[in-house]
Amino acid sequence: MAGKLMHAIQYDCYGGGVASLKHIEVPIPTPSKGEVLLKLEATSLNPFDLKIQKGVARPFMPRRFPYIPASDVAGVVHDVGPGVKNFKPGDEVVAMLSHLTGGGLAEYAVAKESSTVPRPPEVSAAESVGLPVAGVTAYEAVTQSAGIKLDGSGPRKNVLITAASGGVGHYAVQLAKLGNTHVTATCGARNVGFVKSLGADEVIDYKTPEGAALKSPSGQKYDAVIHCATGIPWSVFEPNLSEKGKVIDLTPGPSAMWTFAVKKLTLSKKQLVPLIVIPKKESLDAVVKLVKEGKLKTVIDSKHPLSRAEEAWAKCIDGHATGKIIVEP
Ligand SMILES: NC(=O)c1ccc[n+]([C@@H]2O[C@H](COP(=O)([O-])OP(=O)(O)OC[C@H]3O[C@@H](n4cnc5c(N)ncnc54)[C@H](OP(=O)(O)O)[C@@H]3O)[C@@H](O)[C@H]2O)c1
Repeated sequence: MAGKLMHAIQYDCYGGGVASLKHIEVPIPTPSKGEVLLKLEATSLNPFDLKIQKGVARPFMPRRFPYIPASDVAGVVHDVGPGVKNFKPGDEVVAMLSHLTGGGLAEYAVAKESSTVPRPPEVSAAESVGLPVAGVTAYEAVTQSAGIKLDGSGPRKNVLITAASGGVGHYAVQLAKLGNTHVTATCGARNVGFVKSLGADEVIDYKTPEGAALKSPSGQKYDAVIHCATGIPWSVFEPNLSEKGKVIDLTPGPSAMWTFAVKKLTLSKKQLVPLIVIPKKESLDAVVKLVKEGKLKTVIDSKHPLSRAEEAWAKCIDGHATGKIIVEP
């Protein structure tokens, strides 16, 4: 592939939103030791991709400019670098690229073998590509932080999932319902039927007074909250928690970190758990398997061609996706 060019989208500096995305032709990357070169079939966007552009992780991310954004990719192995043992050209895979180096909004990308998992024929590129960040985050929040066993064993738990219509939330509802749970979920009015169809037992519109107060219609107190929305203070959660209830906050800001510290220091039974997921290959394997078995599905908000990736980026900035936003080369 040496010298061959590919189409990609990049930006040169922090900030600028959609306007700073540039269509370019760059050399197809060469896989180094332990890397695979993928011909991409789908890329999915996550709010964190936008935050990197805004500079929330500066000066570490991006490692350098210009930067090709996006980390969640699915495609076919085109070439392998030295030392790659588990993949060969033609294998269908899904992979998580490093946020430091990005690379997802392109026709080809290099992924570490250690962040790449096989994709069975039953799982399409579009179905798998939402999984590396959103699916794995939901999986780790549900199974590890909330302690829900997906085989249905374990004590019954009342769970609240906020922003259940979004990328993470729609996976979290389905995963939580595989366990022994009662799930209450919040979303906007237009998505109430959709979130019920994912399996939620009760759904509340977050724009109503009951929704804003996170009150379960049947009066449940929550053992765990998988908090995928933002901007809800502890004082709103607290009266809705069971005696040892915990809020697993996926977007912990300074006030959440303060609450976390205070609850720990005062040995409070009710806890706030800040959760930043560093996706693990085993978790990605596990969610791909659940999709293959028909126990988990990816709901696609919209698909956009790479030639119009700005539309996908704008939709992600908008923050009103139902499921996952996907870009296809
Ligand atoms: N900690 C981690 O490792 C990690 C990993 C992945 C994601 N995250 C974070 O988790 C959050 C969710 O990510 P995502 O990919 O699911 O986002 P997303 O797909 O952009 O979420 C959009 C959805 O959220 C709904 N929503 C927004 N505010 C809401 C509220 N107050 N109550 C109920 N629903 C609300 C929207 O509904 P409407 O259109 O009706 O407003 C929309 O359907 C983001 O802040 C992201 O950065 C953290």
